[in-house]
Amino acid sequence: MHYTDEPVVTLRGLRSVTLRVPDVVTSKDFYTQVWGLGLTEEDRDRFWLRGTGQEHHILKLEEHEANSLGGLSFAVGTPGEVDEAGRRLVAAGIPLLREPGRNDDDAAGGYGLAFVDPEGRIVELVSEVNAVVRGDENGHPSVPRALAHVVLNTVDIETATQFYTQVLGMRISDWSERQMAFLRCTPKHHVIAFNQAAWTSVNHVAYELSTIDHFMRGIGNLKTHGIEPQWGPGRHGPGNNTFSYFTDPAGLVCEYTSEVEEINEDTWLCRTWRRTPELSDQWRTAGPPTSGVRSAMAGVPDLGARAAVEASDGYFLDEVQSGTETPDQRAARGRF
Ligand SMILES: [Fe+2]
Repeated sequence: MHYTDEPVVTLRGLRSVTLRVPDVVTSKDFYTQVWGLGLTEEDRDRFWLRGTGQEHHILKLEEHEANSLGGLSFAVGTPGEVDEAGRRLVAAGIPLLREPGRNDDDAAGGYGLAFVDPEGRIVELVSEVNAVVRGDENGHPSVPRALAHVVLNTVDIETATQFYTQVLGMRISDWSERQMAFLRCTPKHHVIAFNQAAWTSVNHVAYELSTIDHFMRGIGNLKTHGIEPQWGPGRHGPGNNTFSYFTDPAGLVCEYTSEVEEINEDTWLCRTWRRTPELSDQWRTAGPPTSGVRSAMAGVPDLGARAAVEASDGYFLDEVQSGTETPDQRAARGRF
């Protein structure tokens, strides 16, 4: 598959992930009262949650009938780069879900656009989001600082990696056999990873703790709430990061991590890791993942934007691409 000769944009980082869950208030309570995120803003059944870092939010929660990925939001340098990305996406035959413009509907604000990847995931490119004051970790030695990475289950890991490398200019840091691909757009080893699976879904979302001490204290804090790791603590091979996996009230998998490897672009060579216990769990402390977390990582099939648009009035993305959509269909598309 060949999408475009050069990337449409230079990504500056992964800002946030949106998760849609049936009981959004219970999930919000877990992430704010137990997991350690702060509430930046709320609007009825939408919640913008932050770490102690400078991002306006790193997790956005929305209500939906089934667990699904609401979208990934990547940082772009300027509104001009957003506009240029929009032109290049259209030229590459990738339809826009939202034209470049001010995000008046989102508490984070900013100037952005949105499009859909080959498996229906909504991808937002956004610049100039609203600032927040950096949080104080001193009194809270166990709260997440930032979003570390999102792992996405894919039905076609080759197509997924080609799309994110060719169109979005991400680089493949490592492979875990041909089962997982770790992609970066910053010096961090990975901000997203794809996992070959039976259906498209979110595998897990990882949150970065500032130090390994914060990481261990975070695990201890969850234990005081009666929540045990489903896999971990340990240290992965690819990325060399610490890990401890949990499940949230919606049954989605969340991870505490720290010390993610930083990459020197001039010298880094992509490797393929064998999937052995000593390479996926270098300390040999984690043991095998529970069967519960394995099935939670598989999740439920997620058609993403395609399902939402189909449900609204039966139209499909082909009509966007071919230019045959009606004004009503175009209005429906603007909601996503
Ligand atoms: Fe992870």
